[in-house]
Amino acid sequence: MKKIIIAIFVSVLTIGTSIADEGMWLPMLLKNNYAQMQKMGLKLTPDQLYDLNHSSLKDAIVWFNGGCTSEIISEQGLLLTNHHCGYEAIAKHSTTADNILDNGFWAKSFAEEKENPGMWASVLVRMEDVSDKVNQALAGVDTKDIGAKKAEIFKSIEKEAKNDTHYEASVKSFFKDNAYYLFVFEKFTDIRLVAAPPQNIGKFGGDTDNWMWPRHTADFSMFRIYANKDNVPAAYSKDNVPYKPKRFLNISIKGIKEGDFTMVYGFPGRTNRYENSFGIKLATDKVSPAIVALRDVRLTEWKNEMNKSDSVRLLLSSNYARVANYWKYFIGQTEQLKRLKVYEEKLDIEKQFKEWAKNKPEYASILPNFEKAYTDYDKYALHSTYIREGLMGSALITRAMKFMSIEKALSAEKPDPEQIKKAVDALKIEGEEFYKSFNPISEEKILAKITQMYFENIAVDQQPPYMAVLIKKYKGKTNKETFEKFAKAAFVNSVMASKEESLKFLEKPNLKKLRNDPAFAYAKACYTNYIERILPHIEEFAKINNTEGSIYINALLEMQPDKNFYPDANSTIRLTYGSVKGYAPKDGVDFKYYTTLEGVMEKENPKEFEFQVPSKLKELYAKKDFGKYADTNGEMRVGFISNNDITGGNSGSPVINGDGELVGLAFDGNWEAMSGDIYFDSKYKRTISCDIRYVLFLIDKFGGASNLIKEMNIKN
Ligand code: ARG
Repeated sequence: MKKIIIAIFVSVLTIGTSIADEGMWLPMLLKNNYAQMQKMGLKLTPDQLYDLNHSSLKDAIVWFNGGCTSEIISEQGLLLTNHHCGYEAIAKHSTTADNILDNGFWAKSFAEEKENPGMWASVLVRMEDVSDKVNQALAGVDTKDIGAKKAEIFKSIEKEAKNDTHYEASVKSFFKDNAYYLFVFEKFTDIRLVAAPPQNIGKFGGDTDNWMWPRHTADFSMFRIYANKDNVPAAYSKDNVPYKPKRFLNISIKGIKEGDFTMVYGFPGRTNRYENSFGIKLATDKVSPAIVALRDVRLTEWKNEMNKSDSVRLLLSSNYARVANYWKYFIGQTEQLKRLKVYEEKLDIEKQFKEWAKNKPEYASILPNFEKAYTDYDKYALHSTYIREGLMGSALITRAMKFMSIEKALSAEKPDPEQIKKAVDALKIEGEEFYKSFNPISEEKILAKITQMYFENIAVDQQPPYMAVLIKKYKGKTNKETFEKFAKAAFVNSVMASKEESLKFLEKPNLKKLRNDPAFAYAKACYTNYIERILPHIEEFAKINNTEGSIYINALLEMQPDKNFYPDANSTIRLTYGSVKGYAPKDGVDFKYYTTLEGVMEKENPKEFEFQVPSKLKELYAKKDFGKYADTNGEMRVGFISNNDITGGNSGSPVINGDGELVGLAFDGNWEAMSGDIYFDSKYKRTISCDIRYVLFLIDKFGGASNLIKEMNIKN
């Protein structure tokens, strides 16, 4: 262990070195990495990766709907992303009569592609360092006004960048406010579903295999960007046409082998690599276990109902997958942070930092201030977790909270009919979507359990006074009985518990009725209590943590002036490079760098939903009918791993070879490095990708969508 700790410390703090696989780099700053990338196998120039004035690879990389990445793979705006990134859209289009989630979907013509209201995809036009502009505006500003001033200067830079065009612009902070960059996008909102394999291929292995290698999932789906006749973003219209991109990715089916150069281009969401020891302790000891326990409740109750009928399963599948994904994430992250002794590691780094900062008074208070902030915050940390993952984990309560807008409008001194109508309309629109996936049977049980957990695990003096009222009113022999009675009453009597009742209420909104509504009364009590009595402590903590965090990073940069630092992920475009590589998860076990279709057949289990295999795939496998997509041994490669540094948000990112061609589709990280968002471990950290040959085989041989294959530029 000691050796690893030293090696890691070196990777974080040694002057002048950067480890190939670690780092999510800003593409416009890649020049510092270029020599190393070339040595590892990159054949392109920096300008071919990112260029302001000419088309470059970056023009093919598309931010997908906020949480994912996609890439353009044809001159007609065809997008490739993960199945789990398209999951919600695919599930929404699914009914028991036309069940594309279970059966798959392959559009054989543009006319068959399916519209997705609310979905978006953004292409980056350019980025620019605006640190000087922001810093000038903030110079001399009082600490208490900094937030407002920052928002103001961001807005003004964004406005100038938009300059009456259809572009979207946003300024983002890097290195915790030590640098600022502007990003200008073209945001497309007519995004149509083109293809998805059945979920027992696209989500093969389900939650059992999730976050794990060896993997056999074909985690892909396809969409298309539509634009108006001028190739400009436009709302959905029959008259829109496929988008003509500046650039699309060519695809290579030459295959990959161990040691090959790989880069992953995409929009990683969030990492916290400069986190301190206090933050890690709080996460592993308190917050993460609470998140897992609270999510457990939802998952158990939903699963019970999903098992009863296909129609309920289809309605709840998307929420279930979303909650389960990060439920398992937090289990894995906690386990690996402990196994890799990351807390001890951070203590060590802090000790060295202290030593270095000994004669630097400007840095002397960072660690003591962190410590005090965390000590003060400790008792509130669980409360905010219980609000986010508990209270808001109850669909009924989340919906009820939204009714506070109408309460506000109704209780104004002079109620304004305009305001009331606005609130009513918004609630009606939200209700249309909300009740589609609202399952009262499971939700009643969830509300009972979550409320009981809140009551039992949150300090009494932090709870809303209303809790005592509730307990008195629904008093049972045990806590369990009390909260079950409460939940039952809420589901019988609340207008929010059914679409019809809520519509009836919204036709004739009435303040007294609203305030007597059990779901509303409880939601409001908890929310108000949180905002008034808890949130101020949390904000105080966040303020100190951010300010000190910002100085801390600045100090680390100063400590190693020659080191090529990379900023934490923040949903901006990044490139990470590395190579194809297996790993040894534990003593005596070696993981190969790829999997094949044979493994799908090995895992097949007709009795387990997660491991069922469609008969057509079995037939293709039996005939070894892999066409030109087989490897040199005649095998069908399914997944592979490489040591690229990715995180959530990179889902759907292209894995690109040294020639700039698409060879894989990144979709996950591995169990042994689940601590990766906080701490990069080069021994274990791997990116799990789907081999592009498997994707093409499925489109072509399984889906029969030769129309899509013809659109792409596939190189042998
Ligand atoms: N762990 C993957 C990610 O966050 C998502 C995989 C989706 N599959 C699943 N079984 N939930 O990128």
